[in-house]
Amino acid sequence: MGINSIRFKIRVLFTVLLGTVLILYSIFLYFSLYFTLYGEIDDKLLLKAKEVSAAIDRYLIKTGPGPGELVPAVQKVMVIDNLPDPDEIGMLEEKWLQKVDLLNLKDDYMSFVDVQGKALVTSENQKGPIVVPSEKTDRSMRDGSPVHESTKRYGTSLRVVSFPFKAEGGGYYVIQIATSLKPAIHILRKRLIQILASIPVILFLSALLGRLFVSKLLKPVHEIARAASRITDENLHERVSGDRVDEEMKYLVDAFNEMISRLERSFRAISDFSSQAAHELKTPLTIIRGESDVVLRKERKKEEYKKSLRTIVEEADRMRKVTEDLLLLTRLDFPQKAFDFESFDLLDLLREIGELGGVITAPKAQTLSIEAGCGAIGIYGNRLHLRRLFLNLIDNAAKFTGEKGRITVTAALEGAVAVVRVSDTGIGIEKEDLPRIFDRFFRSGRTGDRVQPGTGLGLSIVKSIVDIHNGGIDVTSTPGKGSTFTVSLPIVFEAHPSIQGLQN
Ligand SMILES: Nc1ncnc2c1ncn2[C@@H]1O[C@H](COP(=O)(O)OP(=O)(O)OP(=O)(O)O)[C@@H](O)[C@H]1O
Ligand SMILES: [Mg+2]
Repeated sequence: MGINSIRFKIRVLFTVLLGTVLILYSIFLYFSLYFTLYGEIDDKLLLKAKEVSAAIDRYLIKTGPGPGELVPAVQKVMVIDNLPDPDEIGMLEEKWLQKVDLLNLKDDYMSFVDVQGKALVTSENQKGPIVVPSEKTDRSMRDGSPVHESTKRYGTSLRVVSFPFKAEGGGYYVIQIATSLKPAIHILRKRLIQILASIPVILFLSALLGRLFVSKLLKPVHEIARAASRITDENLHERVSGDRVDEEMKYLVDAFNEMISRLERSFRAISDFSSQAAHELKTPLTIIRGESDVVLRKERKKEEYKKSLRTIVEEADRMRKVTEDLLLLTRLDFPQKAFDFESFDLLDLLREIGELGGVITAPKAQTLSIEAGCGAIGIYGNRLHLRRLFLNLIDNAAKFTGEKGRITVTAALEGAVAVVRVSDTGIGIEKEDLPRIFDRFFRSGRTGDRVQPGTGLGLSIVKSIVDIHNGGIDVTSTPGKGSTFTVSLPIVFEAHPSIQGLQN
């Protein structure tokens, strides 16, 4: 599996994405645990500070709020061994003990600090203030809100709440209660280790899932490729089945099948074309061979030799025409290099053809007229091929029109398109033949019975020439009345009207 394969890219992408999401999620879980633990500790500390503050207040109510009573009252509450009698603070004994239990102050550090930062009372495990009152605590004292912070003491991290206490007499103090962060840090550290240890596992699992995901995703591609490789020139009719594939893959299968259909069509066309070509060449060859056999069998009169040789020459001509036409068609189908295109006046070309046309129309005394609806029509194209195009159309018109028939070629500009119409008053084309007349070797049943000479390649050549000029060709016909072939070609310039109604 190379790094340029889709499989590799999807796997890497999948692994990176899934890995990142899982790692980010672990980090999120870690921090939510951190905030939950610290939040719980802060809540507990706040509750304790409130209870301590309430207990001091109650004690003072009993003893009276004299200035000398504050410190002993705080001492009674904070120094655990010194706890007051329930009576002293005006509580039922049972309730007080419950409270003390709930407070569980034994392991906490406490100090009662005045505004200057001097610890007036401390719990037995604590000397001095836990944190020196700061600007923060000053502000909290003024608006009576507690402050939470972390600090380090006795080699342990502590979480402290500074709770403002206002004495009856007007003094401001702070009750500080701290608890060790050790259990919380322990839990967090454990979680962090779990996360770090799980990263390789996460990545491994992502890669594994990526692998499964990719092989599932690319399975149809492999199936299509396998099915496609079974199709050869011998079973071009077979198709890749798109029954059980996803929608996107179905597009691929359909496009592939359509491509095979097109290939099959052109394959068939080529093989039909070759057999028809062979047939077209075989007929004159058979005639030449037969004719030669007959004259060679015994001595003949001079006239007979001449007649046979004429037939042989005619058939050889026919073969030459078929060969030439076939070669031309191949060249038009697969142009090796761009044809020599030039800009020229189409009317000029039609005039030239008009002069030649006499040769075509003379045998049946037909008339050929060339009419132009404008002065000049600038065309960018191959003069020789366009000449062949119009001569082929005129040749057909003459061939399929009776004695004294009329052939008219009109040229006009319609927007940016030059339109040349070749009309005749001939036998016309049956409706069912119209779609096929441009097919190679097609000759209508009536004309195909060899009444008229021809191989059926003329109009295929016309069509190919029109195509290489980005033009179009259309035909309308009424059997018995005549046909009109309309050729449209893009123009490059148009000149002033000067020559009109060129007659032959
Ligand atoms: N002007 C027309 N009038 C009536 N039928 C026509 C006309 N032009 C073409 N066709 C019909 O279309 C068929 C195909 O024309 P196409 O020019 O390709 O072949 P062809 O003239 O028979 O032979 P080739 O041009 O190769 O010598 C003709 O055989 C004829 O049946
Ligand atoms: Mg023809």
